[in-house]
Amino acid sequence: MNLLEGKKGIIFGALNDMSIAWKTAETVHRMGAEIVLTNAPVAMRMGEIHKLAEQCGNAPVIPADATSMEDLKALFEGAMEHFGGKVDFVLHSIGMSPNVRKGKHYTGLNYSYLDKTFDVSAISLHKTLQTAMELDAINEWGSVVGLSYIAAQRTFPDYGDMADAKSLLESIARSFGYHYGTQKKVRINTISQSPTVTTAGSGVKGFDEFIAYSEAMSPLGNATGQACADYCATLFSDLTRYVTMQNLFHDGGFSNTGVSMEVISKFAKEEG
Ligand SMILES: NC(=O)c1ccc[n+]([C@@H]2O[C@H](COP(=O)([O-])OP(=O)(O)OC[C@H]3O[C@@H](n4cnc5c(N)ncnc54)[C@H](O)[C@@H]3O)[C@@H](O)[C@H]2O)c1
Repeated sequence: MNLLEGKKGIIFGALNDMSIAWKTAETVHRMGAEIVLTNAPVAMRMGEIHKLAEQCGNAPVIPADATSMEDLKALFEGAMEHFGGKVDFVLHSIGMSPNVRKGKHYTGLNYSYLDKTFDVSAISLHKTLQTAMELDAINEWGSVVGLSYIAAQRTFPDYGDMADAKSLLESIARSFGYHYGTQKKVRINTISQSPTVTTAGSGVKGFDEFIAYSEAMSPLGNATGQACADYCATLFSDLTRYVTMQNLFHDGGFSNTGVSMEVISKFAKEEG
């Protein structure tokens, strides 16, 4: 399991031990990678990330608001200084919608909140990539992964404006993936993950019912946060060097299932 021996990376978004980024940090560390951890300065207040840093070989923690070009520049410069060179992978595990948080219905969005949703949840990936490219901070054949959700392709009414943000995120991964690929052979993908119990996930209305529905619709069941971390590790490894500009479903088969017997049986009429 030394899949990532010698690799160096930056992990955004480890808020607490439920976070997909937290599990990914632990996993890549176990597989031999060295990491720098980052999150928004406000998210540092709980101090949880420092526990994770300790578990991951005293990884440096560099706060950065992923919507701030200044913070992102300082982050990449700090990481390169720490590693004494460029990084091999970046995990963008960031999402937040003030509209969803404040219960604004999709048909009654607050547009300044919408700007914030897009900036935090999607444009921050562009800002991260642009900063990395300007500083030439990612090695050739490096790998960048963002996290998405199937609401980018199909409607899930309670997901609100996050659905639009995820469409934009996936589009940025494709568009930037072309340019970073041709210039530096850096690959960029999104993983479309099953609903997962985390702080961001639980903010979506009706999440418990929804997670049960998704479980019943997926032939393999919902993919866990740990399984997502394992998948991220494969994308950071040299075994997936020609995978780029893709949105990769990691959802136990949910995305290709029309209906499952478990769900349809709930509509069966009572006999007699
Ligand atoms: N949980 C799910 O059901 C699910 C499903 C599919 C995709 N995702 C995606 O996975 C990613 C990670 O979310 P999670 O479920 O682990 O939840 P989480 O709440 O643990 O992580 C979200 C992270 O985004 C960070 N963040 C918010 N604003 C930021 C900013 N301005 N700058 C930097 N960081 C900022 C938060 O501090 C937090 O660490 C998100 O993109 C989310 O949309 C989650």
